[in-house]
Amino acid sequence: MMSGHSSYVPSNGIMQWMDARLPLPRLMYDSFVAYPVPRNLNYAYTFGGILAIFLVLQILTGVVLAMHYAASSALAFESVEKIMRDVNWGWLLRYMHANGASFFFIAVYLHIFRGLYYGSYKAPREVLWILGVIIFLLMMATAFMGYVLPWGQMSFWGATVITGFFTAFPLIGEPIQQLLLGGFAVDNATLNRFFSLHYLLPFMIAGVVILHVWALHVCGQTNPTGVEVKSSKDTVPFTPHATIKDGFAMIVFLVVFAYFVFYMPNYMGHADNYIPANSLKTPSHIVPEWYFLPFYAMLRAITFDIGPIDSKLGGVLVMFGSIIVLFFVPWLDTSRVRSSVFRPMYKIFFWIFAANAVFLGWLGAKPAEGIYPILALFGTIYYFAHFLIVMPVLGLVEKPKKLPNSITEAVLAKSAARGHPAGAAASPETHG
Ligand code: HEM
Repeated sequence: MMSGHSSYVPSNGIMQWMDARLPLPRLMYDSFVAYPVPRNLNYAYTFGGILAIFLVLQILTGVVLAMHYAASSALAFESVEKIMRDVNWGWLLRYMHANGASFFFIAVYLHIFRGLYYGSYKAPREVLWILGVIIFLLMMATAFMGYVLPWGQMSFWGATVITGFFTAFPLIGEPIQQLLLGGFAVDNATLNRFFSLHYLLPFMIAGVVILHVWALHVCGQTNPTGVEVKSSKDTVPFTPHATIKDGFAMIVFLVVFAYFVFYMPNYMGHADNYIPANSLKTPSHIVPEWYFLPFYAMLRAITFDIGPIDSKLGGVLVMFGSIIVLFFVPWLDTSRVRSSVFRPMYKIFFWIFAANAVFLGWLGAKPAEGIYPILALFGTIYYFAHFLIVMPVLGLVEKPKKLPNSITEAVLAKSAARGHPAGAAASPETHG
């Protein structure tokens, strides 16, 4: 995964033997030990590692859950109850898996917002960013299908509502919906294909993550200044610097995760999903999991026809468009300067965008009546305006602050401002 020169020296005969045949230890050493990372990375750069841990955790807990789960509409709900009550440590596995999905999304949202704040997507990291958006899409598909598996009321009706949106597309909509459902309504065939795909997709995510990290290692990491690495003085080796920082962040994140798993395991779920699916009884209020709420709000914000496009198709196009637009971010941002640390106006717009995303999430949990769809329409317009107007225009008109000549210069200036002696500041040990 490393594009440059390798400094690996096999430590014994076995490693030497292996190195001449399959240099896996060399790859690991070059990627996670000697790999040079900018010396000024902050904690916002630790979420990629946290995501990798959560992907592994989801796969491990999921594989064991699948050993006890029955993918049949007659048995699914009871099999989950059996896992919770009768399977040794089944409750822990299930709560880790369900809350793990939520924490995976918390980490991915922080990771994406870090990218938007520090301009991580800008050249030459466009492919790295696009691979990230593909991962995000795969994660959403996986989570959606996973939520259907317990076959509770929210599982059933969530699947009914979401697959129903495909019918909005003229001609191809209904065939697509039937293909997804394996029939004309959510039923046993739907559950079977969702289970199969829910098992498959995480491995596809893992494959794309490997490409993502490969692309990262070709271009190198950015850093809060946005100034590229210019000399070896600007970097520190991945181990121990990044491993310790990433490790510490992971422990803190896992402690919060454990708090949810052990003390409030159903906080992020919906009570209706403890009622077995009933196709004859629609819940009064169908809501997706919290991490889909901003997109759900945008879907329901279009309550009117736009020319030949009816409101339903309009909503679906807006929802898909809200993800599609992310693919184009590297080209929509016209600024010469990467990091918002040196972009005073973009910084303000970034926080407005973040607040708007939270606002949309809040609206997604509200009923689609009264003032809420109108507010959601404003939120949706602002979401798209951020990418399609603010990003391109601001890049041209904003006057950025003066950039430091190098990462080291920025680090030294910061240390001097804090009153550290220049000599200590120059030592990599004082800056992770
Ligand atoms: C399973 C999901 C993911 C994993 C395991 C993952 C892993 C990583 C890792 C380990 C890093 C380097 C450390 C860091 O900067 O935090 C990284 C960087 C990056 N990721 Fe991801 N990532 C995931 C999802 C995403 C998504 C959804 C996006 C964007 C839509 C994305 C965009 C980026 C970018 C642009 C960088 C480069 C950051 C920089 O150097 O400034 N990643 N990712």
